[in-house]
Amino acid sequence: MAIQSVRGMPDILPAQAGAWRYLEQQAQHVFSAYGLTQIRTPIVENTALFARSIGDVTDIVEKEMYTFEDRSGDGVALRPELTAGVVRAAMEHGLLHNQTQRLWYQGPAFRYERPQKGRYRQFHQIGVECFGISDALMDAELIEMTDQLWKRCQIRDAVTLELNSIGSPEARARYRAALVDFLSARKEHLDKDSQSRLERSPLRILDSKDESTQALLSDAPSLTDYLTDEDTEHFERLTRALEECGIEFEVNPRLVRGLDYYGRTVFEWTTQALGAQGTICGGGRYDGLVEHLGGRATPGVGFALGMERVVLLMESLDVIPDAYQTQADVYLMPQQIECESAIRKLARMLRAQFPSLRVMAHIGGGSLKSQLKKADKSGADIALIIGQMELENESVVYKPLRGGEQETLTEAELLNRISKLKDA
Ligand code: HAM
Repeated sequence: MAIQSVRGMPDILPAQAGAWRYLEQQAQHVFSAYGLTQIRTPIVENTALFARSIGDVTDIVEKEMYTFEDRSGDGVALRPELTAGVVRAAMEHGLLHNQTQRLWYQGPAFRYERPQKGRYRQFHQIGVECFGISDALMDAELIEMTDQLWKRCQIRDAVTLELNSIGSPEARARYRAALVDFLSARKEHLDKDSQSRLERSPLRILDSKDESTQALLSDAPSLTDYLTDEDTEHFERLTRALEECGIEFEVNPRLVRGLDYYGRTVFEWTTQALGAQGTICGGGRYDGLVEHLGGRATPGVGFALGMERVVLLMESLDVIPDAYQTQADVYLMPQQIECESAIRKLARMLRAQFPSLRVMAHIGGGSLKSQLKKADKSGADIALIIGQMELENESVVYKPLRGGEQETLTEAELLNRISKLKDA
């Protein structure tokens, strides 16, 4: 039996890789337009980092982490997300010392979840973390940045923004007590999962999918009523800034997110187009995290998007430009073996003249018909053919593959034609 890939860890094949590259390029464009710099951190970190930052009693740490002992017996883990590693790196290298940082990153993360469409055990995130700025305008700018990214990826109409404030730790502690009081008195009506969460992480009950639990929650105390004045001011400043730049949002008082480090702003971008795994991006503020990990108190805010989900959404909306789904712009074909060097010379010349032109030269012989099939499959718009005659009078056959008449051109005419094509 041939060895297969590990369950939930899919390959990204050439047919999909273009969509990934498209997303990566749009993200890098947006991030550079907002003055962000990139950080790359290791895939493996000490397990304790995740337990301390994401939280001991979260699903991610309790049930989903790939942890192991390395050969010297150290407890390490495949990162289930990238924020913790970025915070660790920023602290370790003094990036937070009297300075602000606006960082972006990209890479794989690992969670032992039940695989299904849009949910994998190895998946990829693109994310941003900003340090040193507690102003809600920073939260707004991050959200604006995601909004710009959706626009560039042409998925903006398919996604909506949900927003909430989960307040400062004090507000949350008071709310938590009130919620536990309320739910304990009605424990028998809660679903099993929520019952077990009641003592350990009661806030997570708020986003239970169970209907009877949800019904019960409609009369439960609301987190919004427990926010401090500063929490409320922060949230209002954020929503005003979003309104100013025309970004619509829905305040969802039940949005709490599954990681413990958040305080105040939390948000998610969701879509109806992907079924159950509709959250394409999530983030929020984590002003207490750096201090919690042993650093000097430093505010932070960030988000991460799930690349698989954004790619699935782009595919379902059919918005990925052709250039990302084809191999070549022009396909060069020698009619006989004697024309092969002329073809390869022409290919070199075109690549030198037009650095962004994708030039494929046929290798491996075969009839003109079979070469044309390959040309078509490459996605090229144009085939260039050299036969005996063209060899003799230094010309080339220019054959449009997507409609249009075939012509014979001199080299100068060809260059002229292609430069026009590139401008178009
Ligand atoms: P998260 O909500 O756990 O947040 O993940 C962010 C995004 O990663 C999700 O919205 C989803 O699109 C994608 N994702 C998560 N798990 C999977 C999976 N098993 N398969 C496919 N996609 C998945 C975080 O990870 C935070 N670190 C975000 C953040 C950054 N907050 C502040 N800074």
